[in-house]
Amino acid sequence: MSNNVVDSAGYAIEGVDLWKTFYTSSGGIKRKRIKVEALRGLTVRVPKGVIYGLLGPNGAGKTTFVKIITTLLLPDKGDARVLGYNVLREAPTVRKNIGVMLSVERGFFWKLSGYENLLYFAMIYGMPRREAEERVEELLKLVGLKELGGDEKHFEDMSLGMRARLGLARALLKDPPVLILDEPTLGLDPTSARRLRNLLTDLARRQGKTILLTTHNMYEAEEICDTVGIIRKGKLVAEGSPSQLKRMVSEYYSVRVTGRGTREVFEETGRYIVDKYSGSRYKVVARENERLSLIILSPVGSEEQILAETVQKLVDKGARITDARIIEPTLEDVFIKISGEEP
Ligand SMILES: Nc1ncnc2c1ncn2[C@@H]1O[C@H](COP(=O)(O)OP(=O)(O)OP(=O)(O)O)[C@@H](O)[C@H]1O
Ligand SMILES: [Mg+2]
Repeated sequence: MSNNVVDSAGYAIEGVDLWKTFYTSSGGIKRKRIKVEALRGLTVRVPKGVIYGLLGPNGAGKTTFVKIITTLLLPDKGDARVLGYNVLREAPTVRKNIGVMLSVERGFFWKLSGYENLLYFAMIYGMPRREAEERVEELLKLVGLKELGGDEKHFEDMSLGMRARLGLARALLKDPPVLILDEPTLGLDPTSARRLRNLLTDLARRQGKTILLTTHNMYEAEEICDTVGIIRKGKLVAEGSPSQLKRMVSEYYSVRVTGRGTREVFEETGRYIVDKYSGSRYKVVARENERLSLIILSPVGSEEQILAETVQKLVDKGARITDARIIEPTLEDVFIKISGEEP
């Protein structure tokens, strides 16, 4: 359907033809006004009960979109609704229906415990004291903060993972039907991230919540998202289930070489391969333990040669290889393909 009429039936979140331009100035002596078009006609529709993942490179406009949907920022143009309520004209109703978790968690009190922080927000939301206490206890258990002692720890003494859990608990206080989470697993260790993902999946599957999240973690998107939208330069450039999106790269293999070395060496090698093999694309990704992966999207037929040559080049340049393999393309490869395309 290519009309612009907003039909809210069935959609939990709808942003239609959103535009947002920021003006900033450079910090130099000769101050220059800089114009940033963060959103350029972005349309995203999230059906009820779905986990929707927004992917996109740094600066693509994901957080800007999240802020508009959560009534924190006004768009220059376009329409946005949550459960049919307009984010501009019905902002209070929108806020009642959403739980929000932004990656930069502000607003918690450093000298209060997890329990006290949540109780404070519950009271702010107008919950009666008894109900608030019960809800807070329940949520501290649900997000696993109780077992970590995060109910009693001051916010300032909490690890990143504990803070993320507290952020999710706060988003769930009002038991909202819609959750909007900006990079909820950013900086978490693998176990904490997995636990948070399981929690999100449960909330969607068992309680029918709609979840919009942004992430840079492709594995995460593949693992938990029903639908993935890829944005680039403020526009939606691809959308579908992870398996639908992967069909976009079915004529490719994914060559992955992991090891230790400087990023420059990995980048140089990637550029060399892409120059030599037309149709190939690459990306360098940071892994655990200070390793880097060079991921090359290889047209079917060139994969073995590309693998051998990539390893050779990296070794020649002084990198130490810990793993090299050819696999079926993943969502990451879809992303690499799209990112490499001209605007
Ligand atoms: N308040 C602001 N003032 C000026 N520019 C801004 C502001 N907020 C965002 N931008 C710019 O708008 C663009 C989109 O930013 P946004 O934060 O939405 O990207 P993102 O997709 O969330 O990126 P990331 O993956 O790095 O979080 C960027 O170029 C950013 O620098
Ligand atoms: Mg962001």
